[in-house]
Amino acid sequence: MTKKVQTPKFGPLSGMKVVFSAIEIAGPFSAQMLAEWGAEVIWIEHSAYADTIRVQPNYPELSRRNLHALSLNVFSEEGREVFLKLIEDADVFIEASKGPAFAKRGITDELLWERNKKLVIGHLSGFGQYGTEEYTNLAAYNTIAQAFSGYLMQNGDVDQPMPAFPYTADYMAGFAVTSSVLAAVYSAEKTGVGESIDVAMYEVMLRVGQYYMMDYLNGGEMCPRMTKGKDPLYCGCGLYKCKDGYIVFEIVGGHQVKCMFDELGIGHLLGTEEIPEGTQLIARSMSVNEILEEKLDNYFVEKTIEEALAVLASFKVAGAKVLEVSDLQSNPQYVARESFTEWDTMDGKKYKGPNVMPKFKNNPCKVWRAKPTYGMDTENILTDLGYSAEEINGFAERKIVNVG
Ligand code: COA
Repeated sequence: MTKKVQTPKFGPLSGMKVVFSAIEIAGPFSAQMLAEWGAEVIWIEHSAYADTIRVQPNYPELSRRNLHALSLNVFSEEGREVFLKLIEDADVFIEASKGPAFAKRGITDELLWERNKKLVIGHLSGFGQYGTEEYTNLAAYNTIAQAFSGYLMQNGDVDQPMPAFPYTADYMAGFAVTSSVLAAVYSAEKTGVGESIDVAMYEVMLRVGQYYMMDYLNGGEMCPRMTKGKDPLYCGCGLYKCKDGYIVFEIVGGHQVKCMFDELGIGHLLGTEEIPEGTQLIARSMSVNEILEEKLDNYFVEKTIEEALAVLASFKVAGAKVLEVSDLQSNPQYVARESFTEWDTMDGKKYKGPNVMPKFKNNPCKVWRAKPTYGMDTENILTDLGYSAEEINGFAERKIVNVG
């Protein structure tokens, strides 16, 4: 019998089945990325209420495209059996909760593997599946993960810490889930044995904030935060003002340092014991720090962005204009690569948003479906699992499912 739930064949993950239960940004971001790469992805929402993302403007249309919507009370007795049937032929199950919420309600990894021993299970939580009583079961959003990981304290300006925005930890956590479940699928394909992955958002952000932490851990040196967008440890790296806006650049490399020093009229400062020829980065601890920064500020503030970028490119210094969101769509690089796309919503409106990322040459990806309405695919999914119309109506009456 032809399946009721149909996903077109495209992308590197064509044929993969993914089920997820998660709200807001992080967990759904990971699952939806798999959907953009061709997997069939079923989004479980509670049968009593929808994902809180649905009441927010615009973003849900982007973040729930290519999905199938099932509303199911997973933790009711009957709902649990529906859920277990659903994962029998799934490759991946992703869930995001306050710690080990599924296991606490009897849906352990072992129970899932009894039904599907190759299943890859991605658990996403703020603090992990195990640890201390104090933390493990706590709720977490982006700022919590940034704060608890030491990441937030490193960001902002020297005068005040500030979380990276918008929702950086959610997206980083999503990427961690995506990459780790795919690693485990690779292993499950070879061994026939599934995996359970414990992604703690704070540990993801610990890795994102790892660079300067190494100086503290291995020498006791604490890195200061940026000052007005400039790198705390290296000169000529960060944000600079031009006549008509901001640019960023990174003076890294022997050739780049030499060209820039010559251009600023301080070439004679190179070739000393402190800054030998071939120096690749100018550390703030070097005595040239202040004079170099003053020269850079004075040099670039007299130039237009176009002039500044031309000079930087001629020295092979990496640099870019700091674009406004309103600059992006007309930027020729974005246009040439179709970095934005447009699709029709379920109710026929045109929506614009970032295109699928990255670009797969041999298995192109696409947006094939708009965000499904709440519970929209419930009947089809349950029919595919072998439930009759009568049984589905019974589930709906008992509020085990919501058919939208
Ligand atoms: N069927 C039955 N019960 C369900 C369900 C379903 N389909 N989906 C969720 N529930 C339950 C949950 O188990 C939870 O029960 P509990 O509070 O008794 O443990 C309850 O419904 C609420 O669900 P939840 O989605 O966890 O909402 P919340 O408002 O309590 O917490 C988060 C939301 C995001 C803070 C929390 O899920 C969390 O910390 N997640 C991990 C990190 C994360 O993803 N953060 C968000 C990043 S954008």
